[in-house]
Amino acid sequence: MITRRRFLADGAVVATAAGAKLPVWARVLNVARAAADPTAASPDLVEHGLLLGVDYYPDQTPESLWSEDARMIAEAGLTNVRVAEFAWSLMESSEGKFDFAWLTRSVEILHKHGIEVILGTPSAAPPPWLSEKYPEILLVNNQGTTVQPGGRRFTCPTNKVYRKLSLAIATEMAKTFAETPGVIGWQIDNEFTLQQWGRCYCKYCRTGFQDWAKRKYGTLDVVNQKWGTAFWSQVYTEWKQIPVPLPSNGDPNPGLALDYDRYQSYANASFAEEQLVMLRKICPRHFVTTNNVGAPLDTIDLRELFRNLDFVCHDNYPGFVQIFFEGGKMPPEQVATVVALGHDSMRSVKDGKPFLIMEEQSGKAGQSFFGPQPHPGQLRLWAFQAVAHGAMGVNYFRWDTAKFGAEEYWHGLLNHDRSKSPGFDEIVRTVKELKSLGKAGLESSYVAETAFSFDLDSDWALNIQPGNRKLSYAAQLMAWYGSVASANVGTDFIRLDGDLSKYKAVFAPVQYIVSAKQAENVRNYVRNGGVFVTSFRLGVKDETSQIVDMPLPGLLRDVMGVTVKDYVPIYTEKIGVQFGTELAGPDAECALWADLLTPQTATVLAKYTGAVYEGAAAITANAFGRGKAVYIGADVDAKSLARVLQALLAMSGSKSAFGAPTGVEVTRRQARAKEWVFVLNHAADAQKVTLPGKFKSALSGDAFDGSVTLRGFDAMVLERQ
Ligand code: GAL
Ligand code: ZN
Repeated sequence: MITRRRFLADGAVVATAAGAKLPVWARVLNVARAAADPTAASPDLVEHGLLLGVDYYPDQTPESLWSEDARMIAEAGLTNVRVAEFAWSLMESSEGKFDFAWLTRSVEILHKHGIEVILGTPSAAPPPWLSEKYPEILLVNNQGTTVQPGGRRFTCPTNKVYRKLSLAIATEMAKTFAETPGVIGWQIDNEFTLQQWGRCYCKYCRTGFQDWAKRKYGTLDVVNQKWGTAFWSQVYTEWKQIPVPLPSNGDPNPGLALDYDRYQSYANASFAEEQLVMLRKICPRHFVTTNNVGAPLDTIDLRELFRNLDFVCHDNYPGFVQIFFEGGKMPPEQVATVVALGHDSMRSVKDGKPFLIMEEQSGKAGQSFFGPQPHPGQLRLWAFQAVAHGAMGVNYFRWDTAKFGAEEYWHGLLNHDRSKSPGFDEIVRTVKELKSLGKAGLESSYVAETAFSFDLDSDWALNIQPGNRKLSYAAQLMAWYGSVASANVGTDFIRLDGDLSKYKAVFAPVQYIVSAKQAENVRNYVRNGGVFVTSFRLGVKDETSQIVDMPLPGLLRDVMGVTVKDYVPIYTEKIGVQFGTELAGPDAECALWADLLTPQTATVLAKYTGAVYEGAAAITANAFGRGKAVYIGADVDAKSLARVLQALLAMSGSKSAFGAPTGVEVTRRQARAKEWVFVLNHAADAQKVTLPGKFKSALSGDAFDGSVTLRGFDAMVLERQ
């Protein structure tokens, strides 16, 4: 599990049918509603500006400054704000005593200046009176310790009192603002995945889990069989005996532990759903979403969380990546890849529909310490990168910079003394440029030739039992993504049981759990000509987290054309991998894992060298139907992995028409016959990109023939001539 705590601590992971007049989000909204409930009336939507805005805190700003703020926000070209997501204590000073007068005044002022408002429901940070009166709402972490109030996200997602009070304040807000001019939508809560400990293990969650298990399995006989409770005398005879995976002098049952992760995801998603159902009823004309953090934070199944929400939102802080990975020393080009993975994974949560950046870094990023100062150009570049990966809008975090509280170091568009920040003019320019792309540009579809499996079952199950202490699903996914992303052919994140047909190649590293449905889908994909590239630990387990009772790689053995003769966690052994002619290149080092492969129908692309594994097949390729299935049995070093994956990508016929050096991203977005090419130079130096023909800048109108040179940290949007 990658929780924010771990993410921050070790930094170990690298890497509308209503017509053409409706704005982007409104169309997304209609489509989403039609899918969620075909009988739902089409919302009576009015035209709004593009979602280019800023997160604004009237709750932290003297009222005497509100008009000036609104005027300046409008002058900066920003057309909406998000407000109030952390203002519970000012909206309900004691239980049932609501006061929205101040927020109403603020919304009126903003509206007078043409700024539309997204309201945040405040459940991410309950007021002191609440946790004092109802201490049972507090989260219990995975060590059994009750987390104390004073920060945020310290609450249990299951607790009924907390759910009731969260829904009550949200309902009062909804009733108050349902018809308020200027209010356009809602953000439920704030960053559900961002709990410091990821999951709650309290007694309410325990009962919730028991009920969830009952609904899932029906009888205790089934539970006992699926979890294999005969082991260590764990046979349950009453539902209330089922524990949660807290420390117990022995590892938890892997089936129970995986189901507990699923339960916690459900608990958070159903918490959000309670507010959503209410908002749909009281505010049918407003969109509803929530903001989240992209991969590699992975404690909630975001497809579950966003299923009935109108569109995906996430928060984009390249500065966080800079601060917490590799001690702040990660080069900007590599930071960009981690950020790109976040965008691609979040866009994929709703299968490619345009998403919104609810919080975009607008300056120096820091809480108790400052992260690196963004270089001139980088704020613009990061916003363009989000749009290049499918965003329909960007909201900057935040307008002013807090003079008190835990985020005094987190810089907004105004400095502490309310002068304009170093990035202010750059943001104004960016917003203007993004607007110039118009609805068509910002509603276009991201083009992807390849896909990555993002399999939470495998991720969670491997976190429970990594096999090799250092083996991490998220780290492998990031290393593989980094290797493929530089080819600039576009990458979606999919589930292996989803539609794979449009992808030339599908990558599925450490797909530890494979369901029968996934296996059949992959089989058909390869049979019909797809290239499937996977790795060691494939198909070891089924969905209950039991080991399959067949030779590995289990259900996909026929497709892969190999048998795993043995599997070897690597600690001190020096094992190499030697490549055959198809993948010719320097020998690789094998780091954490070696699956020793015996080919049945597959051909050998690389063999092990060293130790007793000398000569065993390490990488194989199997022609299956009209496609190809490649098994990378060895955890090869980063350089070799990149070389191998790029070679396999080329074999799949996927190739960018643009020649971009390392550090330059090229992405494409299309709407009908029109295409926008985003060229992003994440390096500090100028870089030359070759172009397949004549292009012109959609932003400046400049013409380019065959190549273009970008200054350091520059972003361009090109259209073919
Ligand atoms: C996000 C959060 C914001 C603010 C920001 C900067 O995670 O949603 O409220 O905390 O980070 O740290
Ligand atoms: Zn709980």
